[in-house]
Amino acid sequence: MLSGHPAKMPPPDVDRNEMESKGLAVTSTLTSWVGPWGISYSANITSDDSGIGTWSEDQFLFAIRNGKLKGLPGSRMLLPPMPWQAFRNLTDDELKAMFAYLKSRKRTKMVGKIF
Ligand code: HEM
Repeated sequence: MLSGHPAKMPPPDVDRNEMESKGLAVTSTLTSWVGPWGISYSANITSDDSGIGTWSEDQFLFAIRNGKLKGLPGSRMLLPPMPWQAFRNLTDDELKAMFAYLKSRKRTKMVGKIF
């Protein structure tokens, strides 16, 4: 529901050989991804303050266009498989519509629930 990887869920237990043959492995929650770069945990992008609740529209456009965490110039690059290199080609209106949709969704905090 867009709230990212559950904070208390243990790291994915991945078969390294399978991961290397496929190039990438993902947990059944689709919230943690393992590949040659390490592990990425899907971010909370609900309208909660722990998600994109406090973001400005400009921050969202900056995050997608430049691949920067939290849409802040000094932050680290977004990790794979977040496809920002493709999404950066969307128009301003398309990105603004996506941001408006995310802002309209209910707030969901990151929780420790194990699925
Ligand atoms: C319209 C679709 C999508 C939107 C609007 C979106 C939006 C975002 C945003 C704004 C962030 C940054 C969150 C932050 O800085 O706190 C993010 C991170 C992330 N997204 Fe997406 N995303 C989308 C699709 C996807 C897809 C298809 C995948 C996986 C196949 C994905 C995987 C991730 C991951 C793993 C992160 C965390 C990256 C990191 O920690 O560096 N996203 N997404």
